[in-house]
Amino acid sequence: MSDPNLGYDVVILGGGSGGYACALRAVQLGLRVALIEKDKVGGTCLHRGCIPTKALLHAAEVADSTRESAQFGVLAELTGIDMSGVNAYKDGVVAKLYKGLQGMIKAAKIDYIEGTGKLVGKNTVEVDGRRITGKNLVLATGSYSKSIPGLDIDGERVISSEHALNLGEVPASAVILGGGVIGVEFASAWHSFGTDVTIIEALPRLVAAEDADCSKQVERTFRKRGITFKTGKPFESVKHTDTGVSVTIQGGEVVEAELLLVAVGRGPVTQGIGYEEQGVGMDRGFVLTDERLRTNIPGVYAVGDIVPGMQLAHRGFAQGIFVAEDIAGLDPQPIDENGIPRVTYCEPEVASVGLTEEKAKEKYGADKVKTYNYNLGGNGKSQILKTQGFVKLVGVVDGPVVGVHMVGSRVGELIGEAQLIYNWEAFPSDVAQLIHMHPTQNEALGEAHLALAGKPLHAHA
Ligand code: NAI
Repeated sequence: MSDPNLGYDVVILGGGSGGYACALRAVQLGLRVALIEKDKVGGTCLHRGCIPTKALLHAAEVADSTRESAQFGVLAELTGIDMSGVNAYKDGVVAKLYKGLQGMIKAAKIDYIEGTGKLVGKNTVEVDGRRITGKNLVLATGSYSKSIPGLDIDGERVISSEHALNLGEVPASAVILGGGVIGVEFASAWHSFGTDVTIIEALPRLVAAEDADCSKQVERTFRKRGITFKTGKPFESVKHTDTGVSVTIQGGEVVEAELLLVAVGRGPVTQGIGYEEQGVGMDRGFVLTDERLRTNIPGVYAVGDIVPGMQLAHRGFAQGIFVAEDIAGLDPQPIDENGIPRVTYCEPEVASVGLTEEKAKEKYGADKVKTYNYNLGGNGKSQILKTQGFVKLVGVVDGPVVGVHMVGSRVGELIGEAQLIYNWEAFPSDVAQLIHMHPTQNEALGEAHLALAGKPLHAHA
């Protein structure tokens, strides 16, 4: 039994993916939990991120299927996009999940406290004048859409992804600043809805965090689709015009459009909530932790987007669960960040886990790394879907597969097996002997492993 004088076993500040996962796991383990949230439980992912954007991208896929239906002998005509209908569908998905999540939090007997919390002591959070104490505190305050110095997001012509999710009309044209995950996802959806899109990216390639072959394939397909992108071109300035914005990029080139979407990354929400005052170790706004997600203050943990690393909901879930188990004394295994799967839901999708070829060569030496690219041209189901792309494996010579990288329609759904292969340190021959369903896209993973194990079927060695 917990000591009532010490308050809760765990006080969690922030009810997004990291915070609520921690709360749910902690009560399962018999701990007394308070979960503090100023807005809505579910956070960025459910209300402003993963879920609504993927609904938008699905509507975009439906638009593409309609537009391209004649290729399949189906006669249909795309007569327009009704954004209020798209928004109603998207909001309906979010509302249903939100209701379910609220029900789970209630049923779990978590003390849910609505309000803005501030750290006022090493084991105390203040919410609207009320002090809540816990033997352990978990900081899970999430992230916000960043901008760059001098660039004001006004929510009208210069917008963030949050605004972009709630547009009443399809923009005729848009400039997207940033060719990272958010940039390419919105570029893809808007293009499918009929927007004339231009992406501006400072780095030499789109989705630059991915394996270079993935960037190349996305760029090739975007070019074919008619999505304009300018890589290696940092943004310089923006001016409002009568009809929208005029964006200048390095070298003086100007692009005009109805609006500018700023997608240059997300910053941690850590200011003005007592972290610095209480001496929590931080770097550029992020909260520093060890591999057990402990901050420099005993009993204070941090999870999710405020911890340096990939800002992904499922990383937050895993970290939240990890912290609950650590507090309960279960001694969980630290999380291998490379084993966290990544999917970018543009068309074509990009899915990966483990090391890129470049990173693997740095880690193991170029002569110890072997790769195999299985082209989806040899995969029946991908041909049926009329998608192009590949499954690329990065393996260690006489060792396990240390990276899987895929591009193509729907390949995000293939990441489950890839993630087990990486995390279970499977050798190509381990996977090659397992039978993959024919005809599926998943079969492409099987074929790639057959080839890497030296016995290709519908491929070359
Ligand atoms: P990001 O870090 O993926 O991409 C930002 C891009 O902006 C970078 O490529 C950067 O080089 C570029 N950039 C920055 N300053 C620039 C400038 N002055 N001029 C031109 N380009 C510039 O960040 P993004 O796309 O905003 O996403 C934020 C976070 O949200 C990411 O951590 C991402 O993982 C997460 N997210 C994940 C999704 C998924 O898993 N499918 C979907 C959407 C977001």
